[in-house]
Amino acid sequence: MQQGVTIWLTGLSGAGKSTIASLLEKELRHRGLPVEVLDGDVVRQYLSKGLGFSREDRDTNIRRIAFVSKLLTRNGITVIVAAISPYRSTRDEARQEIGRFLEVYVKCPLDELIRRDVKGLYAKALRGEIENFTGVSDPYEEPLSPDVVVETDRQSPAESVALILAALERGGYVKLTALDGSGGWP
Ligand code: ADX
Repeated sequence: MQQGVTIWLTGLSGAGKSTIASLLEKELRHRGLPVEVLDGDVVRQYLSKGLGFSREDRDTNIRRIAFVSKLLTRNGITVIVAAISPYRSTRDEARQEIGRFLEVYVKCPLDELIRRDVKGLYAKALRGEIENFTGVSDPYEEPLSPDVVVETDRQSPAESVALILAALERGGYVKLTALDGSGGWP
């Protein structure tokens, strides 16, 4: 059976994880690969409904996402996770659990995120209206040795996706030469 992989996008809120996940999903599907996306915002409406943003709740959220990713990955699916996943040890647990795993740090400086503030959450957090807001009043532990770093204040989403595709191929996780849906896997 073909083997899957989990591409784990970690980074601050608004850094571009969901945008990159959607574009990457499109690119991988175009190459004939079966893809599923697990996005923190969506998972929190279903699988993790009711969880908050304490360390314990975030860890529970991430462990649930890792569990589902493991099931999908071992059945040949290319899984894209887009979740802040702020704690290094919990991301490492996910890597251990899943095995075939590519950690992507979606990096963007805080001042740029505050400037963009697409959801208006940074302004609220800075006014003290949201507790435990990652990057403002809650920690984000940067990956120490991510497989890929994309810098969304300097790169377009397409450039970021190209870097991820190259790393997937370099790591032997996918073979991306076929654009017609045939032989997308080694
Ligand atoms: S994680 O920490 O558990 O990985 P997740 O990616 O699922 O977080 O959800 C983050 C999203 O929740 C953010 O993009 C934002 O829209 C929303 N959110 C609401 N409150 C917070 C908060 N205190 N810290 C971070 N994100 C928050």
